[in-house]
Amino acid sequence: MKKTIRDIDVRGKRVLVRVDFDVPRAGDGTVTDDTRIKGALSTIEYLRGEGARIILLSHLGRPKGKVVEELRFDQVACHLGHLLQQEVAKVDECLGPEVEKALASLKPGGILLLENVRFNPGEEANDPEFARSLSQLADIYVNNAFGTSHRAHASTAGVAAYLPAVAGFQLEKEITMLGQALEEPRRPFVAILGGAKVADKIGVIVNLLSKVDTLLIGGGMAYTFLKAKGYGVGKSLLEADKIDLARDTMDKAAAQGVELLLPEDVVVAPELNIAAETHILPATEIPPEEMGLDIGPETRKKYGEIIAEAGTVVWNGPLGVFELEPFAAGTRSVAEALANCPGTTIIGGGDSGAAIKKFGLEEAMTHVSTGGGASLQFLEGKELPGVAALLDA
Ligand code: 3PG
Repeated sequence: MKKTIRDIDVRGKRVLVRVDFDVPRAGDGTVTDDTRIKGALSTIEYLRGEGARIILLSHLGRPKGKVVEELRFDQVACHLGHLLQQEVAKVDECLGPEVEKALASLKPGGILLLENVRFNPGEEANDPEFARSLSQLADIYVNNAFGTSHRAHASTAGVAAYLPAVAGFQLEKEITMLGQALEEPRRPFVAILGGAKVADKIGVIVNLLSKVDTLLIGGGMAYTFLKAKGYGVGKSLLEADKIDLARDTMDKAAAQGVELLLPEDVVVAPELNIAAETHILPATEIPPEEMGLDIGPETRKKYGEIIAEAGTVVWNGPLGVFELEPFAAGTRSVAEALANCPGTTIIGGGDSGAAIKKFGLEEAMTHVSTGGGASLQFLEGKELPGVAALLDA
């Protein structure tokens, strides 16, 4: 476990908090989903209560070391100020005289949001000089940006070399919830893995094989598994170079006593189009002119029954093309089964988090991660650089 802001004296100190304010925005820059901003509030409110001077730092998008006007934080500062009912000072740089000036006038409990840290090439390069300069703004470093903690960047990992570095509440919650699910699961422990590609999920599958009782496979990657079993998959997504890997994974699951289930039936259409004519077919009978785009009703029923009995469920990756209504039923039914499951339900961020939100079922889950790539890497059993850099408890 890592030290958190509760384990360190922050009273009156200047505290640099790496938050993940990489939020979806409309064309005019207004924030359209403030989940990540809300995820930072408990940490900010705690620091405010302790009279710390709060310096917030984040990236937004991928400006690649250059200033991109649309990726400035002005609207986010307004949004945050509104949520906190407090003025949030905002500067147009991360370092330099303007920042120094704003810092000098920051009062205990005051909040300053620095500009998008990825405008600086030193950020993604994890340049030690840039990290050291950031550290000189503060007395303490807090990482609360779980969603970015899989990146070894200056503001997520590098800066921790120069300051006492601890976790914020959001980061603590994420690693506790995901960690407990993996290390002390109530059984049966079921993982549901979907999404487009085997290549993206194979690390998670391999790590989970030694932990779970049942693995339910869906989404585009299921077709590479079906192909590995010798079935035709028509025009479905197929990673020809991963067929052997899929076969090997199924053999390993069998050897380890893990039940690995593939879809029994699928929703097919001749093309990925909202208006395309759909059919339901056994997954073993996809004709050459059709593509599988969702799990079928028999599979939904079977997966639902397994989820209902689970003590712990971890879900990462949609079961079909849920963004288009004709192919959303599989993902929706799994989300609903999770909502009704009395066990612990953990949702990886990214697309599965987006699906849960789309179906309005967030509140019914034990935990919906705010990190896409980060939760994937955590489920792969890899250490996250932004977590590793923090002080041990
Ligand atoms: C995310 O949106 O997943 C995080 O903010 C990380 O963003 P990145 O993939 O651009 O590093």
